[in-house]
Amino acid sequence: MGFYNKYILPKMIDWACRQKPTMRQREKIIPLASGHILEIGVGTGLNLPFYVKEKVLRLTAIEPAQDVWNERVVDTEKLDFDFEFILAPAEKIPVQENSFDTVVITYTLCTIPNLSQAFAEIQRVIKPDGQLLFCEHGKAPDKFVQKYQSFINPVWRPLGGGCNLNRDIPALIKNNGFEITNLESMYLPGWKPVSFNYWGRAVLAE
Ligand SMILES: C[S@@+](CC[C@H](N)C(=O)[O-])C[C@H]1O[C@@H](n2cnc3c(N)ncnc32)[C@H](O)[C@@H]1O
Repeated sequence: MGFYNKYILPKMIDWACRQKPTMRQREKIIPLASGHILEIGVGTGLNLPFYVKEKVLRLTAIEPAQDVWNERVVDTEKLDFDFEFILAPAEKIPVQENSFDTVVITYTLCTIPNLSQAFAEIQRVIKPDGQLLFCEHGKAPDKFVQKYQSFINPVWRPLGGGCNLNRDIPALIKNNGFEITNLESMYLPGWKPVSFNYWGRAVLAE
């Protein structure tokens, strides 16, 4: 999969993630970010135009795939807020504990291989009163779609760079140390197995 992962997958990820309904989702969640912000799995930077510059003290973006970041759609030199990029996975975030007011994650929980390690890292780097903003596709509510998601997942995952169709996003967040304070969900227009979205806000559980 070397050629595919290096030359085709990054373009496919960017194409899939820039569809209109997905871009509308970004508009709903990214402007809520404030303070010192960490974005996990920044991909090709599609969220970057949606941050509100007056609310951003500093944005740190991490991404483990250099080939994906090389396809970025934004000139980060021209961002009107303080920005740094770090090549790193969610499972090993190279920053000090209690660093961030907001952690942002969009369309990435489907792909992270070791979710419990990733959430342990998010718990470590987020401030005690920080917020986790998320927008993800995942397990659909309809039994038929769920079955279809699980049936095609073994074929989909390697082609989609490790993306899983059937992760239960709210359950994952709740089972990994967070309490969800706002949650919305719906099918976006498009192919049902990949279009059921969950988005909202979570805080560290007491
Ligand atoms: C579908 S893309 C979404 C990109 C971006 N978050 C967006 O909303 O457009 C999934 C991203 O997760 C990244 N990823 C994969 N494994 C990861 C990990 N262990 N930690 C953080 N990001 C990861 C991929 O490289 C890819 O950029």
